[in-house]
Amino acid sequence: MTDRKGIILAGGSGTRLYPITLGVSKQLLPIYDKPMIFYALSALMLTGIREICVITTPQDRAQFERTLGDGRQWGLRLVYVEQPSPDGLAQAYLLAEDFLNGAPSAMVLGDNIFFGHGLPRILRAADMQTTGGTVFGYRVADPERYGVVDFAADGTVRAIVEKPAVPPSPFAVTGLYFLDGTAPERARHVTPSARGELEITSLLESYLADGALSVTQMGRGFAWLDTGTHASLLDAGNFVRTLSDRQSQQVGCPEEIAFEQGWIDRDALLAQAALFGKTQYGRYLKRLAGETGT
Ligand code: TTP
Repeated sequence: MTDRKGIILAGGSGTRLYPITLGVSKQLLPIYDKPMIFYALSALMLTGIREICVITTPQDRAQFERTLGDGRQWGLRLVYVEQPSPDGLAQAYLLAEDFLNGAPSAMVLGDNIFFGHGLPRILRAADMQTTGGTVFGYRVADPERYGVVDFAADGTVRAIVEKPAVPPSPFAVTGLYFLDGTAPERARHVTPSARGELEITSLLESYLADGALSVTQMGRGFAWLDTGTHASLLDAGNFVRTLSDRQSQQVGCPEEIAFEQGWIDRDALLAQAALFGKTQYGRYLKRLAGETGT
């Protein structure tokens, strides 16, 4: 484990989910039995990260604080930073610069869900790489919606292209970025794109130009779900429901990860179980603590 810190980027406008997101942040919407942001949080926790900066819009900050608190219930330290307007993913590194204080980071988009056997292993491998950057490539049917990896013939990465009309490969870059301590400084040199955003692909290009970016493939054993549209939101909820019902195991449960890592003790786990007593989630936490549950 390194001194890497986490960032969850949970601002944005969520316009593709209107009218739902007129009054509530996308990342607080339910993915079956828990708020969307729990899944992104779980990915950082599985990496071993305990200090996390949550970036929200000014108007949604209070609801995030109400939902996640200061992180103590999971043995974490959460801090909140507002993004005044959605000026792009790379801006997160400028907003989180003081929080990072020179440390390497893992940033996850608050609307991304990762699941798969061996996920902690690839996350921890990326964590061990404390210089340069690591991103994850995932084969998708619609790469033109994402940043896409352009591979040279020898398999090395030539470029990352944002929303290309003609995708150079089917491999999208997922919303999880492991970058070293130079990210804020590099982000300062990113200029706004034609759509007026500080693009994460421009920041990644800066690493690429220095030969300092690796792309790890997330193979077919992994699920990377995007939840940004009505249909994908419902699909993600159904996916989580199917898995958790079938296996009687939770997906993206921060209490479970914290308990497994030894960040919270049994009493803290039982306190959370009591809070959620009326739900399957609460019974699950009781079971983890060794008490009779489902
Ligand atoms: P997007 O899906 O690109 O945008 P959005 O969430 O605002 O939704 P829509 O396209 O429906 O309007 O954003 C990806 C993630 O990054 C999402 O979790 C929101 C977040 N985000 C920010 O927090 N700040 C930003 O400046 C941008 C562009 C996105």
